[in-house]
Amino acid sequence: MANTTELGAPRSALIPALHRVVARRSETADVVTLWLEPLDGARCSFRSGQFNMLSAFGVGEVAVSVSASPSDPGPLRHTVRDVGAVTHALCSCDVGDVIGVRGPFGTDWGVTRNATPNDTVVVAGGIGLAPLRGAVEELVAARHEGAGRVFVLVGAREPDQLVFLDDLAAWEKAGAVVLSTVDRSAPGWSGHVGLVTTLLANAGFDARHCRVLICGPEIMMRFTARALHELGVDPASIWVSLERNMQCGLGWCGHCQLGPLLLCRDGPVVGYLEASALMNERER
Ligand SMILES: Cc1cc2nc3c(=O)[nH]c(=O)nc-3n(C[C@H](O)[C@H](O)[C@H](O)COP(=O)(O)OP(=O)(O)OC[C@H]3O[C@@H](n4cnc5c(N)ncnc54)[C@H](O)[C@@H]3O)c2cc1C
Ligand code: FES
Repeated sequence: MANTTELGAPRSALIPALHRVVARRSETADVVTLWLEPLDGARCSFRSGQFNMLSAFGVGEVAVSVSASPSDPGPLRHTVRDVGAVTHALCSCDVGDVIGVRGPFGTDWGVTRNATPNDTVVVAGGIGLAPLRGAVEELVAARHEGAGRVFVLVGAREPDQLVFLDDLAAWEKAGAVVLSTVDRSAPGWSGHVGLVTTLLANAGFDARHCRVLICGPEIMMRFTARALHELGVDPASIWVSLERNMQCGLGWCGHCQLGPLLLCRDGPVVGYLEASALMNERER
């Protein structure tokens, strides 16, 4: 079978490749990580920040970021929050179940392509750490090759909504500065309480010479970018990941349009200078 269709798109972009769930972990009460292996053994490469369209057969298809690192030799990894019909079906998958995967699609964080000796600050809200996880893994690994310091600032509504606690500990052990905060405390939490923006001023990064990657709810990304700007960070050094309803993933259907951008193709990772004018636009 040819690898491209008559429309010129790679077959993997149009036809879901069957993947088996080979492992599953509940991250929080409503967030599940699935590890997936292709039935035909043909793993796809991807860049951190990109997403796949995942199909729960008979229910539907949704966009979900890859939460693995591109250098991870293991199975494909996606972390899904149960918010509706399709994500519920995906989160309900057991080991052995089969789902569809189309992709990967979209722009990436570019952390290895744009390696820098300067600081990189990663700011995540809730499950926003999932699309950033691969980038942090790459950044932490690059520290051994002389790349800049890594700061990971994580916020969640409540302590039991913090994801990837094992990764946070491993990144800190590997030399990253890892700070977490919750909006509302709970019994047993002795850490910082406050919005993720309250971590910025004392985190210790060089505001004049850094790049920042942000993923979370749009309001959190807007306030974080503004606070960074006030601290002296150049807005041209800030990147955000934007989410809109995706259908084709190929720049054909227009469902993901945001101003002049088709976010499946020109996003999800967009420079804040371009994104800031568009982030108030409602989904079509
Ligand atoms: C590029 C991209 C990457 C994404 N990565 C992840 C990820 O790594 N993990 C994850 O859990 N989710 C991710 N999402 C969001 C995910 O696609 C939606 O949660 C999903 O489409 C909801 O579908 P549903 O049928 O389960 O719920 P629906 O019934 O369609 O929606 C339920 C609720 O979720 C809201 N919603 C629907 N679509 C989105 C969306 N795109 N963004 C935010 N809220 C939405 C709806 O407004 C509604 O309130 C990503 C979305 C995009 C566009
Ligand atoms: S999802 Fe169809 S154009 Fe982007």
